[in-house]
Amino acid sequence: MSSIPKPERRSRFDWIADELTELRNQSLYRSLRDATPLKNGKLLCDGREVLNLCSNNYLGISDDLDPLSVANASEMVGATASRLIVGNHPSFGKLEQTIAELKGAEAALVFSTGYMANIGVIPAISGSGDIVYSDRLNHASIIDGIRLSGAKLVRYRHNNPDDLKRLLEKETSYRRKLIVTESLFSMDGDIAPLERIVDLKNTYGATLMVDEAHSSGVYGEYGAGLVNELQLVDDVEVQMGTFSKAYGCFGAYVAGDQRLIDYLVNKARSFIYTTGLPPIINALNTQAVEIAKKDNWRRIQLHENALFFRGQLRKSNLDVGQSQSQIVPLMVGDDEKSMVISQRLFDNGIAAVAIRPPTVPKNSSRLRFSLMATHDRSDLERAVEIIAETVGDV
Ligand SMILES: Cc1ncc(COP(=O)(O)O)c(C=O)c1O
Repeated sequence: MSSIPKPERRSRFDWIADELTELRNQSLYRSLRDATPLKNGKLLCDGREVLNLCSNNYLGISDDLDPLSVANASEMVGATASRLIVGNHPSFGKLEQTIAELKGAEAALVFSTGYMANIGVIPAISGSGDIVYSDRLNHASIIDGIRLSGAKLVRYRHNNPDDLKRLLEKETSYRRKLIVTESLFSMDGDIAPLERIVDLKNTYGATLMVDEAHSSGVYGEYGAGLVNELQLVDDVEVQMGTFSKAYGCFGAYVAGDQRLIDYLVNKARSFIYTTGLPPIINALNTQAVEIAKKDNWRRIQLHENALFFRGQLRKSNLDVGQSQSQIVPLMVGDDEKSMVISQRLFDNGIAAVAIRPPTVPKNSSRLRFSLMATHDRSDLERAVEIIAETVGDV
């Protein structure tokens, strides 16, 4: 029997092929590359060992997590169900208590990822008739959360409390106001003016949510984060953070008032309608938080490495934007040029990813370098030389 031709089926995805071609033409195409983290800030990528300047495992904790030391580890591997069905393994409570204590909050709630925390919390606490003020450079998960909420989205200029004030004054007819900012910005490495934002939120009767994805573990005593370091815990109603960056593990948390946490258990859809994390991950997250609490040397070493690296790039007249932290962008602007630099660095033994729109605004493509406590100083010295040479050549 001859097969029936299905031309319409083959052509159904022509539009996808066209869009992918367009992305390639614009140097905006993304693809996956195998990468296995090694110890001491190295990475095995496409079969080559390279210096890892793009990890969020800032404190190097993932190197030291030990699943074998977890009691009954073999019974904790699988996942079961939504936590509201039969998935609420006691390891969740332990992790939540550890986080609440660290953050100085009444309670905490674990989410499966930071993305899910943001798209769950924001629609739970704001909706149609409400307004959300979002820093212009907030992470996509925050923007998606606001869009899902149905609240009016207003974006204020990055780290600009004057602009936020102007907008708070302008909009008066909304039921509830929420301000959302990252504490340490993921692509720019600069820090939000949290004290000024707190003053504004108090003056204008808003609620404040701070995403500490990149500052948890890294700032504050015991790594409690920037909100804690600045003693703003009582003024920040929603402290959100992840276990997937400095804690070197997986998942996320929200910390705050017990009523907030009870409400999220009832209303946050990305908490309710999904399977809870495998208990072993909770145990490893708890282990990671304990390591970060006790190993102050990791924070000291990370900040020293970041200071050195940023300083050396600046000495070489390279534009690292407003970076104040372990996240150090190298501003390039042009999408294609940033791809070429990234590839040349890789050819010279350095993994550093080109970050392009829509992750960052148009014409602000960059290399995003991130430092680790476990980086070796001589590796960083060599990297700076290679980066300066490469940028000079391209
Ligand atoms: C600021 C910020 N919030 C949230 C997330 C999402 O966290 P996760 O990777 O755990 O989903 C990220 C990570 O990419 C982030 O940078």
